[in-house]
Amino acid sequence: MGYRVAVVGATGNVGREMLNILAERQFPADEVVALASRRSLGSEVSYGDKTLTTKDLDAFDFTGWDIALFAIGSDATKIYAPKAAKAGCIVIDNSSLYRYDADVPLVVPEVNPEAVEMVHKKNIIANPNCSTAQMVVALKPLHDRARIKRVVVSTYQSVSGAGKEGIDELWDQTKSIYNPTDDKPAKKFTKQIAFNVIPHIDVFMDSGDTKEEWKMVAETKKIMDSSIKVTATCVRVPVFVGHSEAINIEFEEFLDEDEARDILREAPGLMVIDKRQDGGYVTPIECVGDFATFISRIRQDTTVENGINLWCVSDNLRKGAALNAVQIAETLGQRVLKKG
Ligand SMILES: NC(=O)c1ccc[n+]([C@@H]2O[C@H](COP(=O)([O-])OP(=O)(O)OC[C@H]3O[C@@H](n4cnc5c(N)ncnc54)[C@H](OP(=O)(O)O)[C@@H]3O)[C@@H](O)[C@H]2O)c1
Repeated sequence: MGYRVAVVGATGNVGREMLNILAERQFPADEVVALASRRSLGSEVSYGDKTLTTKDLDAFDFTGWDIALFAIGSDATKIYAPKAAKAGCIVIDNSSLYRYDADVPLVVPEVNPEAVEMVHKKNIIANPNCSTAQMVVALKPLHDRARIKRVVVSTYQSVSGAGKEGIDELWDQTKSIYNPTDDKPAKKFTKQIAFNVIPHIDVFMDSGDTKEEWKMVAETKKIMDSSIKVTATCVRVPVFVGHSEAINIEFEEFLDEDEARDILREAPGLMVIDKRQDGGYVTPIECVGDFATFISRIRQDTTVENGINLWCVSDNLRKGAALNAVQIAETLGQRVLKKG
C-alpha cells in the first residue's frame, strides 16, 4: 500500500519539478493527481512516462489523500492548505505562509529530519526559501564540528525563483535588446534584468533589508540554531536556473580549510568540486537537474579568528523547492506515516 499524493500547482515551475522528482526517486505513490487553477483545467503534465490531466484545485476534495505538495504562492495557499489539512491530508508547502509559525515544522531533511514528527499540530510542514535550503545543507556539518557564530552571505539568484513570469521576462528582454523596436520594460522585476543584476528580491522591510534577506536569517535560526547570526544580501542575476551563494562563516573553534573540505565531502546532499585551477569550481549551468548542492572555492578567511569562505550552487527548483519537498515526503513516510 503506497501513498495518494496531490501535486498542487502542477503546471508551475516547481510543480512540474515535483512530478519529475516523484517519478525519478520512485516515491511509493499508488496514485498521483495534478492540480492547478481553473485556467489550466485539462492541460497535460508529465509524471515519469505517464501523462496526467490537470484538475481544478478549487473543486478538489482532499479526503482520503495522504500528502499534498503545494507550490501555488501564499495567497492561494492560505485558502486551500487549511482545507487539505482539515481533510486529513498532510500539506508540504513551498510558499512562505507557514514557515515562521511555531506549530509548523520547517524542514530540510539533511539538517532537521526529526522536526517532521511535530506535523500533527497543524497537518502542515513548510519548505524553506530556496536560498536558505541550499545554505543550511552546507552549514550543518560544519556547525556540528566547529559551532558557527556568524554567517555573511551574498546570493546570486536565478530568475526561475520568481516563477514562470520571471523566466519569460529574462527571455523576452534578452531578445528585445537585439531588436530595439520590440521594447520589453521591466514588469516582474523592478529594473531591467537582461544583462544586469538587481540587489532587490521581495519587499523592503523597515530595517532596510529585503524580505528575502530577512527570510535567510529567520529560517536558518529556525532550522539549525537560533544562536547563529546571519547577515545576507540577496541579488537577482540574469541566470535562468541555479542559485549561487558566496558564504563567509565565522566559527567558535578553529577549522582548517582541508578539514572543512573533508567534512563537506562526506556530508549528505553535498558534492564538493574544488580544484584551484581554471574551471575547477561549479557554476549554475552545471547544477541544473541535479539533486546535489555543490560546494567550491573552500578557503581560509584569515581576516577573522576562525573563518572559512566557500561558494555554494544548487538548482533552486530542486533543492530550493521541489526536491526538498519530496525529501520531506519521504522523511514523513519513514518517520510518521509508515506506509508502503
Ligand atoms: N521557483 C523557486 O525557486 C521557488 C523556490 C522555493 C519556493 N517557491 C515557491 O513555490 C511556489 C510556486 O512557485 P513557481 O516558481 O512554481 O511559480 P509558477 O511557475 O508561477 O507556478 C505557479 C503555479 O501555481 C498555480 N496557481 C496559482 N494561483 C493558483 C490558484 N489560485 N489556484 C490554483 N493554482 C494556482 C499555477 O496554476 P496555473 O498554471 O493554472 O495558473 C501554477 O501551477 C511559490 O509559492 C514560490 O514562492 C518557488
